[in-house]
Amino acid sequence: ERGHIIFSGIQPTGVPHLGNYLGALSNWVKLQRNAEPEDELLFSIVGWHALTLPQNPKELSASRMDMLATILAIGIDPKRSIVFHQDDNQCHTELAWILGCITPVGKLRRMTTWKSRLAASRNANDESEVDESLLNTGLFTYPVLQAADILAYRATHVPVGEDQTQHLELSRDLADIFNRTFKNAKRFFPLPTQLITPTRRVLSLKDPSSKMSKSAPDVQSRILLTDSASQIKSKIRSAVTDSIDGVTYDPINRPGASNLLSILAACTDEDPAAVALRYQDKGHGHLKADVTDAVEELLKRPRSEFERLKEEKAYLADVAKEGAERAKEKSWTTLKAVRSIIGL
Ligand code: ADP
Ligand code: NA
Repeated sequence: ERGHIIFSGIQPTGVPHLGNYLGALSNWVKLQRNAEPEDELLFSIVGWHALTLPQNPKELSASRMDMLATILAIGIDPKRSIVFHQDDNQCHTELAWILGCITPVGKLRRMTTWKSRLAASRNANDESEVDESLLNTGLFTYPVLQAADILAYRATHVPVGEDQTQHLELSRDLADIFNRTFKNAKRFFPLPTQLITPTRRVLSLKDPSSKMSKSAPDVQSRILLTDSASQIKSKIRSAVTDSIDGVTYDPINRPGASNLLSILAACTDEDPAAVALRYQDKGHGHLKADVTDAVEELLKRPRSEFERLKEEKAYLADVAKEGAERAKEKSWTTLKAVRSIIGL
């Protein structure tokens, strides 16, 4: 029996924060560690997706390299896994075009990500009016590009969070439409399965009603993978909690303290409620000190690896080149078959 083909991607959006790390990237390392020898793993930095929002070219170029250094720094082994820049492999855009031509517009209109973009661009005075200058075509069609990212490798498993469930359904739909539209396709595309990443939502340290995010204006609200020990310490020390005595895990009524417990539990691979029992008679200061130590311990190695790799420009370029070559070889096999199936 053939192994699994596992594909996942992340946008080149600067140095990741603790939420990106605990919620997404650390899971890639676990998958790599637990993979069977016959499994194939592909991890892609999806630059074309980043273009759906305005980007500063200089920053995008730096972020692209930073994300590659990050992926290697956290322990993805480019000999074991195929690590590559999506935008180095044109098979993705060719397949996206082909898939776009079998994608009903209505399916894209139903994407909740699109609906929220639409909602955000409605005229404040007249709800029925959408400011179309705020909406580019890429924002509308990027779920098709995402399907192409996956199907180009005929991936069987896609580790992503629950927020991606609808997009993955679209990928399965498009695989199925392709398989049924072209009689000689037989079952060319496997229908990719979502490997739900256990939800480890890290909340903002300053506003625990929202998630930790790179776009929040207050930089104190997030811990970056590159933060020094003293930055980690000061950010956690000033994290918003509450004035109730003792520590309990109560995400609804005590989101700030519960977030700290979740972070600590994620670092030590425990259950937050179990961790809370150790702090029930202690103050928030005590908890914060331990979270600081645990986060520092977690990020110490990735941080120093990142700082080291960032200077190794020739090595990073080699990894990117080799990754792109391996990715192109695999996806070109798919594209040749697709072209032949559809008559090109
Ligand atoms: P951001 O919200 O900072 O812009 P992205 O949307 O680029 O982050 O997310 C990149 C990956 O990190 C996704 O898989 C997303 O689910 C995960 N992620 C982002 N923020 C968090 C968070 N606060 N907690 C857990 N996972 C997160
Ligand atoms: Na985001």
